[in-house]
Amino acid sequence: MSGHQHDAQHQHDAQHRHGAQREPAITRAGYDELYRSAPVWTGRPNGRLVAEATDLAPGTALDAGAGEGGDALWLAARGWRVTAVDYSEVALKRGAAQAAELGLADRVEWRHEDLDTWRPPERAFDLVTAHYLHATWTDREAMFHRLAAAVAPGGTLLVVGHQHGEAWGHGHAHEAGALYTAEDVAAVLDPADWVDVSTETRDRDPGAAHRTGNPVPDTVLVARRR
Ligand SMILES: C[S@@+](CC[C@H](N)C(=O)[O-])C[C@H]1O[C@@H](n2cnc3c(N)ncnc32)[C@H](O)[C@@H]1O
Repeated sequence: MSGHQHDAQHQHDAQHRHGAQREPAITRAGYDELYRSAPVWTGRPNGRLVAEATDLAPGTALDAGAGEGGDALWLAARGWRVTAVDYSEVALKRGAAQAAELGLADRVEWRHEDLDTWRPPERAFDLVTAHYLHATWTDREAMFHRLAAAVAPGGTLLVVGHQHGEAWGHGHAHEAGALYTAEDVAAVLDPADWVDVSTETRDRDPGAAHRTGNPVPDTVLVARRR
């Protein structure tokens, strides 16, 4: 899976297609309903993850907002030990079933947590990755701060989202305040602790655009902890 498949607009569309009761755009119940009504497993990881992690030595990884676990399982297959966190139990169960099928069950821990409050262990992961983590949160800065704090010395932080813009100007994700930019994430990083901080807008992963028809570019932050 690549999670962009079930971004907020897609969620909205899916709810209408499947006749589900209209939920506020982005909620735990809304994601559960989306995953329940529209399995989105493709077996493919997100392109930015592949680009960033292919050359990294396998270690420990935290996938924040892992969904059905396409990224977590790609990492696990490459030798990483992965903690996959999501607040949708439906998605996590599907990921765990895939892990069992692929013989990767012992490499992925599926954690049912709300990232708005969950505090990951600090400096514990060689890679912390979050793709399209569009959610309501009480304090977005604090959430990214906790995710950044989870990166081990020498480790990598990768955060990808949908770029704000015209196409999303009236979207539910935008209304819900769920979008962020790479710069928003960079702002929580203490420059004394991080090197090679890069913030970019890039063309959307073509696979994802193809699946959703949504051409909104990606906003991508990559940083390494000293
Ligand atoms: C658009 S999907 C992306 C999934 C996955 N990263 C991918 O690229 O396939 C966003 C995911 O974040 C999860 N999520 C959103 N807010 C969350 C929160 N506060 N705590 C835990 N998970 C959350 C949703 O359940 C959903 O699975």
